[in-house]
Amino acid sequence: MTSPDKTTSRIGRIVAVTGAHAVILIDGGSDADARAKTPEIGTLLRVDTPRTISLCIVSALSSPMPSHMPDEPETRIIEVEFLGELPRDERGEPMHFRRGVSCYPSLGDTVFRASKHELAKAYAYHTDMAIRVGHITQDEAIPAMVKVDDLLGKHFAILGTTGTGKSCTVALLLRRILEKNPQGHVLLLDVHREYAHAFRDIAEVISPANMNLPFWLLNFEEIVEILIGQQPNREADVEVLRELIPIAKLRFMNNQRRERPALQRAREQIEPSSIGVDTPVPYRSSDLIGLLDEHLGKLELRGELAPYKRLKSRLEAINRDSRYAFMFGSLTVQDTMSQVLSRLFRIPVNGKPIAILELGGLPSEIINVVVSVLARLAFDFGVWSAGRIPITFVCEEAHRYVPVDKTLGFEPTKRSISRIAKEGRKYGISLCIVSQRPAELDATILSQCNTIFSMRLANERDQEILRAGISDAASSLLDFMPTMGTGEAITFGEGVALPTRIKFDTLPADEWPMSNTASVTGSWAREMPEDGFLQDIVLRWRAQSFAPEGTVFDMPQQATFGQQQQTSPTAADLTAPLRRLSAAANRPVGSGEERPSLASLIRQIKS
Ligand SMILES: Nc1ncnc2c1ncn2[C@@H]1O[C@H](COP(=O)(O)OP(=O)(O)OP(=O)(O)O)[C@@H](O)[C@H]1O
Ligand SMILES: [Mg+2]
Repeated sequence: MTSPDKTTSRIGRIVAVTGAHAVILIDGGSDADARAKTPEIGTLLRVDTPRTISLCIVSALSSPMPSHMPDEPETRIIEVEFLGELPRDERGEPMHFRRGVSCYPSLGDTVFRASKHELAKAYAYHTDMAIRVGHITQDEAIPAMVKVDDLLGKHFAILGTTGTGKSCTVALLLRRILEKNPQGHVLLLDVHREYAHAFRDIAEVISPANMNLPFWLLNFEEIVEILIGQQPNREADVEVLRELIPIAKLRFMNNQRRERPALQRAREQIEPSSIGVDTPVPYRSSDLIGLLDEHLGKLELRGELAPYKRLKSRLEAINRDSRYAFMFGSLTVQDTMSQVLSRLFRIPVNGKPIAILELGGLPSEIINVVVSVLARLAFDFGVWSAGRIPITFVCEEAHRYVPVDKTLGFEPTKRSISRIAKEGRKYGISLCIVSQRPAELDATILSQCNTIFSMRLANERDQEILRAGISDAASSLLDFMPTMGTGEAITFGEGVALPTRIKFDTLPADEWPMSNTASVTGSWAREMPEDGFLQDIVLRWRAQSFAPEGTVFDMPQQATFGQQQQTSPTAADLTAPLRRLSAAANRPVGSGEERPSLASLIRQIKS
């Protein structure tokens, strides 16, 4: 078979082969000819063998004896890595690309630039299972395709310096994946509150203002982090909590059985003996306080009282703290676990396959605990559902939660995310790791990511981390990392056909995350906002809420928030009367949709 451009696309001949590595001498001729023939790193070349077309990628270029005069011909060699092949059918036509080389080229074999047709065969999948994300840099006409099953089945990472387009890539990938799979299930951790804008029509936006993540879903380590933290003498407090939590759980269960026997269906009955400190069954914080009081009444020795007193006052403080309202806010505890899972993991999807968890504005210790609970819930859900509903867990700023430094981060969060990275695949739970500092990310997490999109990375240590774990062919491409433009990436791994450099498609402006680099001069050129501007910021700051009662200006994102965003809780001084009211109304506490409007409650209080 002869491709039409074979004479013009000839590059040279093979002069050395070692395993999958070969050296090619570029054809002689005038200096201009040789220059024209020299491909750049990352270019795909072809070598014909009797039964296949072998494809290799340029990994190095050199001129061992450079001439002193610019026009003098000189020896030019290129080094290549063989990556895969296109087997030929009986008529000699190339068929589908496959990785690995069954028939190695030999010395003297002629090397050509891969034709458009071969590039398309190698890079483009035209199956229902693949999505287009951009085009390859070698040829704009060749789409860069990603195999969805391989991408989501085995975790992937998007890495790059700040502003290189990671969030836009997340938005682009998820959009394209969910266009083809509208019944997907994605949970996206959004620390900077940027994604609601990108997915406004297909996302359930969950923020502390409309979230209900009952504290009894926390496991023991997580509740210890919130109630005790890393204070000295914590062992005594931890032991008290370990003893009392199962008792509070049993109390709640017994009360339920007494009060609502008809509602307790047989399959909801749990053996009391199986209730442990980590069992996700409800209990009341008031029961816990009651138990602490009972012990305080019994104990006479001063020293032994201290842990009980500390725990009681911490529990009472947290119950009053508006920042924890989404966990400790409701007085009427009900078993809402299925509703919580339904909302977080989009079951049923109801046209919104993504749940965006906006964590912006929360202090880092709360974010840590929330991320830990969510990652654990996702994994445990996978285990107990036997992987029947695959879920993708997107973790922005992953180096914050799974740092390489053992002294940083929150241990349970690290464990939950590592567990998904190591075992999640078996239960249909996949990770998307987004980070600007791969060197600060736990190396085991990155090594579990089977597809990597590496955008511009200027820092040497970050580059080294990536280089360490990949093949020679892809590592030569990584030389481009410091110089790539915004929205460009080196992709390698199982989700893509071959390691290659790609340019992502441009996202339409209405699908951008709200992270676009602000124009400083544009903002400075405008008049200062109205009088109330600063007061409103101070109000938000103190209320620790992006939508407290009384604010008059909107953050840009707020125009696009779901309706639930407007029904937010409020400043700490308002929470006590609000709770009394909500308890009196005996409202259900399943999902955020069921929370009463703050404004209406305040009106009631005022009246
Ligand atoms: N595929 C794309 N389509 C359109 N614009 C893009 C694309 N990729 C990047 N950009 C542009 O680059 C800017 C920065 O992108 P983005 O916010 O995604 O960077 P980032 O890597 O997530 O930054 P950070 O680490 O600070 O979160 C965007 O505001 C947008 O203007
Ligand atoms: Mg970003």
